[in-house]
Amino acid sequence: MDESRLKEKAAVKAIPYVPKEGFVGIGTGSTVKFLIKLLVEESRKYSDVTFVPTSLETMYLLNSGGLRTSTEFHGSIAIDIDGADEIDPNGNLIKGGGAALTREKIVAANSQKLIIIADQSKLVNKLGKFKVPVEILPFLAEQTIQNIENKGCKVTLRPENKNRSDNGNIVIDSDFGLIDNVQDIQTKLKMIPGVVEVGIFHGMTWKTIVGKNSGVEEINY
Ligand code: 5RP
Repeated sequence: MDESRLKEKAAVKAIPYVPKEGFVGIGTGSTVKFLIKLLVEESRKYSDVTFVPTSLETMYLLNSGGLRTSTEFHGSIAIDIDGADEIDPNGNLIKGGGAALTREKIVAANSQKLIIIADQSKLVNKLGKFKVPVEILPFLAEQTIQNIENKGCKVTLRPENKNRSDNGNIVIDSDFGLIDNVQDIQTKLKMIPGVVEVGIFHGMTWKTIVGKNSGVEEINY
């Protein structure tokens, strides 16, 4: 089955977890777009929900489908549903392929539960084949990149028309190879002045819903 069909299957299974009132975080990416489509189709059911979008694109898609969004203080977001670039057996993630990692992490960190929806290709034994996205300030960016490489990785720059986050910062990709200690890499990178956020999400996931050729699997952590 093709990947987008598997993404859609995962999104369908996530719908029952969306509450009918309160605040709900919505991630970014092609898998989440299937979820948004389903929400928009039933938008009347969600008239008491305020969605907290993790990117301008997600906000646009929700709003143009008639769903309410807010990026003001919410107190508590019940559920956040997002995609991922890699998912390890403990639910640790690499995210940020779509450059939305900073807002995605803020929303995830302020949500009671993070649900990841993905196709089976995202499941890995160890994170790191997908390069770790890092958002950095443009100010002295070359120096910051050097400091990132000094932590033991090779940095790749994205094409100029695709290297900016919604926050106006630069997103680069760092290749550490397969990572033994994701928490350690996350901490080391975050300590570098100029680093805004790191696309390693450690210990945040509550559940992963995976679209597979054989069906849909729900993995709890
Ligand atoms: C964006 C992300 C996405 O969730 C991640 O890139 C997965 O995208 P897709 O659902 O298109 O495979 O982290 O910053």
